[in-house]
Amino acid sequence: MSEQKIIISPSILSADFANLERDIKLVEDCGADWIHVDVMDGHFVPNITIGVPVVKSLRKITNLPLDVHLMIENPDKYIEPFAKAGADILTFHYEALNDYCEICSVIKKIKSFGIKAGISIKPKTMPEVLNPYFDMVDMVLVMTVEPGFGGQSFMSDCAEKIKYIKTKASKSLIIQVDGGINAQTGKICKDFGANSLVAGSYVYGANDIKQAIDSLK
Ligand code: DX5
Ligand code: ZN
Repeated sequence: MSEQKIIISPSILSADFANLERDIKLVEDCGADWIHVDVMDGHFVPNITIGVPVVKSLRKITNLPLDVHLMIENPDKYIEPFAKAGADILTFHYEALNDYCEICSVIKKIKSFGIKAGISIKPKTMPEVLNPYFDMVDMVLVMTVEPGFGGQSFMSDCAEKIKYIKTKASKSLIIQVDGGINAQTGKICKDFGANSLVAGSYVYGANDIKQAIDSLK
């Protein structure tokens, strides 16, 4: 177990969507800190998952922070609905917006609802693009797979970006990693300086979920 507190955010993309309440309680009872909700629109990524009404329903059945990962085009349009539905952290993709002004405006909008703002980069995006935003956001999310699907293999070269981000980050910045995380890959990320791990298939595919979550801490 690390000295530093690691925020574990199981991704419900690997849960049973017909039993979301059961599967959220399961990870809640096993020590999850946040619940990671993957929102995909079929445009920014090839897959379609869940949206605002599901977040609204999840808000009623858990007190854990809802960590909503927006893999969508035009995230600006959906900040208010997701914030009002009960998201606690809203993370959008750098690649989904066109310029500095648009990005600043989305960050401001998220913060205007009193919730945390996160910015994410896909595997091919260099971490330097985040330089103007490190002091504006609460969290940076480094993708270690191409966003769109659970159960893919961890890309270790993407995890190297954490080292750069760490040199730029203030103490309070959360550095989250998402994609192919298990006990081994999670350790690589923590050693580079990540302090939040998302894990879908590793947690929900485990025979012993508590042991899986503990192994990420
Ligand atoms: C992928 C999603 C991830 C996904 C991770 O686009 O953003 O959150 O659920 O799944 P695993 O942990 O199975 O790689
Ligand atoms: Zn995700």
